[in-house]
Amino acid sequence: MNYYYIETFGCQMNVHESEKIAGILEEKGLTRVSEASLSDVVVFNTCCIRDTAEKKIEGNIGELKALKRARPDMIIVISGCMTQQSGRAEALKKRFPFIDIILGTNNQYELWDKIERLISGKKKLISIDDAEKPPISEDVPICRTSFPNAWINIMYGCNNFCTYCIVPYVRGRERSRDPELILKEITAATDSGYKEITLLGQNVDSYGSDLASGMNFYKLLERIAGIEKKFRVRFMTSHPKDLSEDVIKLIAEHKNFCKNIHLPVQSGSDSVLRRMNRKYTKKRYLELIDCIRKYMPEAGITTDIMVGFPSESDEDFRETVDLVERVRFQNAFTFVYSPRKGTPAAAMEQLPPEVKKARITELVARQNAISDEISRDYLAREYEILVEDELDGVVAGRTDSGRLVRFPGEKSDIGKFINVLVTKNKASSLYGERV
Ligand code: SAH
Ligand code: SF4
Ligand code: F3S
Repeated sequence: MNYYYIETFGCQMNVHESEKIAGILEEKGLTRVSEASLSDVVVFNTCCIRDTAEKKIEGNIGELKALKRARPDMIIVISGCMTQQSGRAEALKKRFPFIDIILGTNNQYELWDKIERLISGKKKLISIDDAEKPPISEDVPICRTSFPNAWINIMYGCNNFCTYCIVPYVRGRERSRDPELILKEITAATDSGYKEITLLGQNVDSYGSDLASGMNFYKLLERIAGIEKKFRVRFMTSHPKDLSEDVIKLIAEHKNFCKNIHLPVQSGSDSVLRRMNRKYTKKRYLELIDCIRKYMPEAGITTDIMVGFPSESDEDFRETVDLVERVRFQNAFTFVYSPRKGTPAAAMEQLPPEVKKARITELVARQNAISDEISRDYLAREYEILVEDELDGVVAGRTDSGRLVRFPGEKSDIGKFINVLVTKNKASSLYGERV
């Protein structure tokens, strides 16, 4: 066994978990390849947030059938959120009998053990721990793939049960990591050259609420602010019901914290927000935005918005468009609501697809126009860019506020902070030159 291939679907949480899967396989001497057909172990780390995600993954799993027929000793592993839905692992195994191993969101650390069992002829290779609060597995090796950014989990799971969302069902209740382990991981990553840390959690503002020590997100950020090194800190995701003025102030005051807040709003209608169980109103959300802008006038504010939630009326949708126009988000991830089996909203009365389609089209057009107007504010100004990527003599990196800027450069620039004058705004991308 020499080569492995991983395909990751879904959010940053999954991207990071794939780094742990890679860590386990590399520790055993395997090397990553970029094509499934060349590998001995194929891992699909899956997502089930929307139906489109699941359909795509099922299609991709189906394509593995021919590979497995040609190379019967290839080991096929399906892991992550999709497998964790009730009854889903067995259904996957039935539909795709060539799958060898299925691992739930809390079982990925068992990967090598399961591979050994498979080789020694053991049969039962589905492992799903669906305890409400499965223990956190520390000490899993990590093979980072996002230099100069290091993803660092601060917590797992979610307690919020937004009525549309599958995440609490597939990732269990909130569990916060020991702050000392988080700080150790940040120190290790920055010592070895990482220039950006992204703290991960479904709702980072509730970090610590399950720890006995009285720890919370503010105190964690204070400790991180105390690390005397130049690196950027980002975090995701904040929940509008929990993001506090104290945290906003702390971010504004400390240079290492990026002035970039991702604050999913979902809807601008109070009645939709209530039915979504989001626990804030449009007014409260707008006050929070004012508060962010009071302390950080230049902050890049981004969001997630959903249209087509059950019974969303035209009036409700107008409230969402109004909110988008008032806030003027730098960028918004927009989604059409997708019913998820077992969630309360899936049992509510659904809207016709053409209504959803018309709304998403209008929302995207409105937001794109706003994003474009905001891009113009960047023109003829200088920014410090952290370079992330290079392609054909052009590098790409982000401003502190989270905007991607491209300019001429080379591979060796990746991981450097470079001052750039933004000169062009084309097709919602920013371009510049070194100063
Ligand atoms: N924990 C984060 C992210 C959750 S998933 C948060 O609370 O914001 C990322 C985004 O996917 C959500 O913000 C939401 O906009 C979208 N989403 C979640 N469930 C969905 C569903 N059933 N249909 C469509 N979009 C959904
Ligand atoms: Fe899902 Fe809501 Fe939890 Fe985010 S806060 S993961 S949207 S239930
Ligand atoms: Fe993320 Fe998808 Fe799971 S968005 S938490 S990978 S369902």
